[in-house]
Amino acid sequence: MHGDSRVVALVPAAGMGVRLGESTPKAFVPVGGSPMLALALQGLIASGSVDEVVVMVPAELVDETRALLPVSEIPIHVVPGGAERTDSVRAGLDAAPDATLVLVHDAARALTPPALIARVVAELRTGAPAVVPALPVTDTIKSVDATGAVTGTPDRSTLRAIQTPQGFDAQLLRAAYATTTQATDDAGLVELLGAVVRTVPGDALAFKITTPLDLVLANTLVAQGGTAVPVKRDQDREAVANS
Ligand code: CTP
Ligand code: MG
Repeated sequence: MHGDSRVVALVPAAGMGVRLGESTPKAFVPVGGSPMLALALQGLIASGSVDEVVVMVPAELVDETRALLPVSEIPIHVVPGGAERTDSVRAGLDAAPDATLVLVHDAARALTPPALIARVVAELRTGAPAVVPALPVTDTIKSVDATGAVTGTPDRSTLRAIQTPQGFDAQLLRAAYATTTQATDDAGLVELLGAVVRTVPGDALAFKITTPLDLVLANTLVAQGGTAVPVKRDQDREAVANS
């Protein structure tokens, strides 16, 4: 579908969602009636830019996850994640040996517009080895020391908030993961290897659902329409075909 490159999206969805505080792991918390994970997968499929998906979930939820997968023409694999996000991404990389380009996309960014996903892949296809969606920051950011005293105020015009999907040449990301232990940001790892990371314009709708306030916002956006359509599950396929 994409010449000789194979785009595999890795979707970390194995976190517990401690800050959200719901009783189920965060990726399975509904937004507008559909689990966040299903919405995130639907966005990846709708982008038309992805050849295959690997989802990393808590080990005890692998079977349950297979039942909620959206209808998809591209293969979606479900594998157990790990204790830290880094471990989950590594598990996804291991399950995607044929990838030439890799996207890493948080399930928690459930409302990410497909056009943003397509933008990241298009930039990778120009030859960029690493690509991240970026937005200007609206708050002033300060650094502080251990006592909470301000140590500096970086020039805001040079700062960006970084979203997902983050896109990589697969060999580069594998090399980065071979040398590291933990990180919150995949691009940060390839920066350590000296690779140039390019930015493309992010989108406010790609915000990460982290806190209860974020969940209120996400539900409100879906209720207002225009952000996400209801997810059709794979097990509903026959019903759809017969209707
Ligand atoms: N994630 C993962 N494996 C982990 C931890 C996180 O796959 N061991 C995933 C989450 O499921 C989420 C994404 O990484 O889709 C971003 O992480 P975050 O927003 O921090 O989610 P949680 O770790 O679930 O939330 P919290 O930190 O509040 O517990
Ligand atoms: Mg976390």
